[in-house]
Amino acid sequence: MLLFLINQIEEGEEMPLLFGTAKFNEQKHLTIGGCDTVALAEKYGTPLFVYDVEHIRQRARGFKQTFNSLGVKNKVIYASKAFCCLAMYKLLEEEELGCDVVSAGEIYTAIKGGMSPENIEFHGNNKTSEELAFAVDQGVGTIIIDNFYEIDLLSAILEEKGKKQEVMFRITPGVDAETHDYILTGQVDSKFGFDVASGQATDALERILADEHLVLKGAHCHIGSQIFSAEGFLAAVEKMLLILNEWKQSFGYSVDVLNMGGGFGVQYTKADDPLEPEAFVKAIVNAVTGQCELLDYSFPEIWIEPGRSIIAEAGTTIYTVGSQKSIPGVRHYVAVDGGMGDNIRPALYDAQYDGFLANRISAEPSEEVRIVGKYCESGDVLIKGIELPPVQAGDLFAITSTGAYGYSMANNYNRNLKPAVVFVENGEDRLAIRRESFEDLIALDCQ
Ligand code: LLP
Repeated sequence: MLLFLINQIEEGEEMPLLFGTAKFNEQKHLTIGGCDTVALAEKYGTPLFVYDVEHIRQRARGFKQTFNSLGVKNKVIYASKAFCCLAMYKLLEEEELGCDVVSAGEIYTAIKGGMSPENIEFHGNNKTSEELAFAVDQGVGTIIIDNFYEIDLLSAILEEKGKKQEVMFRITPGVDAETHDYILTGQVDSKFGFDVASGQATDALERILADEHLVLKGAHCHIGSQIFSAEGFLAAVEKMLLILNEWKQSFGYSVDVLNMGGGFGVQYTKADDPLEPEAFVKAIVNAVTGQCELLDYSFPEIWIEPGRSIIAEAGTTIYTVGSQKSIPGVRHYVAVDGGMGDNIRPALYDAQYDGFLANRISAEPSEEVRIVGKYCESGDVLIKGIELPPVQAGDLFAITSTGAYGYSMANNYNRNLKPAVVFVENGEDRLAIRRESFEDLIALDCQ
């Protein structure tokens, strides 16, 4: 968590949580990537997602370079679902990351963004036959088979096309990671993957090995999201290698690749204390080394699929303050010009965020307020309670660490327009996604 202490803050005042290149300039405006966010808000309007490109690069390198420095063959595969657009895929290519996609739409965007098809990995618990055919036609590198239905479906598509396809298969190792139920995926009772305990994973292995169209590279697991410690990953490595070793004994099959998925936690508020990318990688490599030595299993290539941990802290949303409502003795509401349309996570997961005024940082907090959006729903709350100085209409309010699953889960509820997204780096800003227009809103409507 690269926390930059800021010298413009008066002594005794509490410092907000800042990530990457975020700082305050002499006018006490928030700057990111050397760009003044007040000027960005003027130029592009609000709500505005501002992404700190240097921070994205640093996080990507944190994973990649740690594997490389340990001499471990690896692939760091960014999970597109956290946030993707053409500019993001271009950045991933520059940083030599692959990407994980979960729909034909993500495959299409990745390829249009310049991602090499062989560096794309296709996930999903219900890929349609059209999507699988599209993936095969586009030359997608790896398809991660999720269920028995998909083994047959993919095999039939490949038979028809006279092609072979490199695949992995997803296993639910039966590890309960400590996180929100909705983002927990490695437990037995999950819609994803083949279960180990009931023998389904072994049946799947036999069927895939026997299929002449499927070229099996290895096994995958993903235990959940926003995981702070290495323990869940260590338990998963242990379980995965035990089952892999059983398969080696029974079928003489050893994997080339072990894919440990994503889920590495990030900091949203001061209460969060996740490990750094380097520490996660070291812990996984140590665990795989230990298990392989113990079981005399040859050391596989390791792949991981970080999404949130690469992009979350790099993103900040800038809103403009509008109306306020103060109910004496009850609560003070401050409304901003976005809300659950650009960040549904508080409403969906009770997710917590931090924020502050971006246009006059050191004004001293005086009152606890609730930050709400403009959507026609009482649950449209962005921050339940936060200490702020007296706020005026037109102030800019920044919410930090919004880079993951904010824009990517954005919607047009109430026919509000999706915000613009701007990338900033070395004092330069460039539009990555333009703000939606009214014409965009009705573009699909038929009369
Ligand atoms: N790999 C697989 C197979 C996954 O299912 C996921 C996330 C990832 C990688 C990336 O996980 P990450 O590193 O980003 O935690 N919308 C929820 C998160 C859903 C995650 C689904 N799968 C949220 O806003 O918290």
